[in-house]
Amino acid sequence: MTLPRKKIISANWKMNITASEVAPYLTTFLEEMKQIDGVDVILIPSFTSLPKTSELLTTTQGIRLGAQNISSYDKGAFTGEISASMLRDLFVHHVLIGHSERRHLFGETNAVIHEKMKMTLRNEMKPILCVGETLEERRTGKEKQVIEQQLREGLQDLSLDQIDNTMIAYEPVWAIGTGQTATVEQAQEAHFFIRSIITELSNISTSQKMRLHYGGSVTPHNAEELLSAPDIDGALVGSASLDPHSFAKIVLKAQST
Ligand code: PGA
Repeated sequence: MTLPRKKIISANWKMNITASEVAPYLTTFLEEMKQIDGVDVILIPSFTSLPKTSELLTTTQGIRLGAQNISSYDKGAFTGEISASMLRDLFVHHVLIGHSERRHLFGETNAVIHEKMKMTLRNEMKPILCVGETLEERRTGKEKQVIEQQLREGLQDLSLDQIDNTMIAYEPVWAIGTGQTATVEQAQEAHFFIRSIITELSNISTSQKMRLHYGGSVTPHNAEELLSAPDIDGALVGSASLDPHSFAKIVLKAQST
């Protein structure tokens, strides 16, 4: 059983694009796009660029705002952290959780990620849970085991309704920022596997509705092929999203796929 799922393209700007660079970026992007139709777009700026992006998006249809991270604490003495209510104040809809850079460079464990999932959902925002194996884990044939554990621990004890409000991004660590994209076969196999685990954790209707992003060196050249795989519903784009022309090209490919 396959249901049509609306494509979704997310731009993860990471630690790039300052607040003063947002307006020129958006002007160029919107000029190239003309109309955003039949695809959802999420912009995920740095925390300091969130207010400006939020302000500029109030008059733009079809683009939603995402944050790159969230604190697992509500409020208080947590220097340097950003809380769920601070994000809600800026009209953030989505939160990226467990990006591989957070896992590998900042030591985020599945347990912390699970706390962040609950915090996001409790505050009525929608998490994008990132999962994916390292090169070593793929070489030793452990990729499915790793992905399954990330999913089970990240989503544990969530209600059906909460899982319905979650998206997953499959981002093999070896493909992020390296120019080495997973083949369509590798990516499709991983997405199919992820959907089967989501079915086990919820039910077939929830898993069929859930939109799954692929991330890792997506460009205007490979986007179409990746997005035409049956279980790949979108792309989480890093490097190629920093240039509004190339990001627009990727969104246009999604519109026509
Ligand atoms: P990339 O990053 O497109 O530069 O590989 C993707 C990501 O980390 O989300």
